[in-house]
Amino acid sequence: MKYEKVAIVNNYKKTEEFYELSFKWEEEVKPGQFFMISKVNFGELMLKRPISVYNYKDGIVKMLYRVVGKGTKLFSCLKKDDEICVLGALGNGFNTDYKGKNIAIVCGGIGIAPMVYLSQKLCENNLHIYVGYKDEVFIPECFKDNIHIATESGKEGHKGFVTDILDVKKYDVVYTCGPEIMMQKVVKMCNENKVKSYASLEKYMACGMGACLTCVCDTKHGKKRVCLDGPVFEGDTLWI
Ligand code: FES
Repeated sequence: MKYEKVAIVNNYKKTEEFYELSFKWEEEVKPGQFFMISKVNFGELMLKRPISVYNYKDGIVKMLYRVVGKGTKLFSCLKKDDEICVLGALGNGFNTDYKGKNIAIVCGGIGIAPMVYLSQKLCENNLHIYVGYKDEVFIPECFKDNIHIATESGKEGHKGFVTDILDVKKYDVVYTCGPEIMMQKVVKMCNENKVKSYASLEKYMACGMGACLTCVCDTKHGKKRVCLDGPVFEGDTLWI
């Protein structure tokens, strides 16, 4: 697997905090998979960034990213038809083989992005989405029905944490992505109630291909590389 040059289809400021970047990609991409992205002209001078897939439809990959440093600031300046280098689609992605089940998606922060695509794949189930924010609510319109919102500030929905309003016993499967403290709580609740869960981990990644070991995490089965063995892990193998 190697980096390929692709032309940007669109790159724009979608919300106060997030940009949406899209490019053409013919091979199927699973929810939970990600791409390593690098701008062509900066070559090795710029670190490559892992960005998860927020939507894939009609041969177009869409990603959401937050401008947090020099690298993502450079991405935000890219225009339609500029070339970037991408490596992917990487990682295992979510297991979505749960037809007709009661399913909850629990997410927060930038972890909301991959769950938008996951929610589309799971739309034929009885699906409930729990989204936690600090204050400002963003992209709730990307989810269809049954959305439950919590904000720490109380600006919208339940005042507090999203885990306050989650009863995992109502569900057969729970998927989570977002701040680690939130995912740990969700997984613990699921493990205690013997509910199947999946968590998508976020780690700093240098290579994205399993070679550098910068993304290692501890699991019940020993150390695993988040980029290659994950980023999605079964909840009962984590934080135990
Ligand atoms: Fe290099 Fe995972 S990022 S091994």
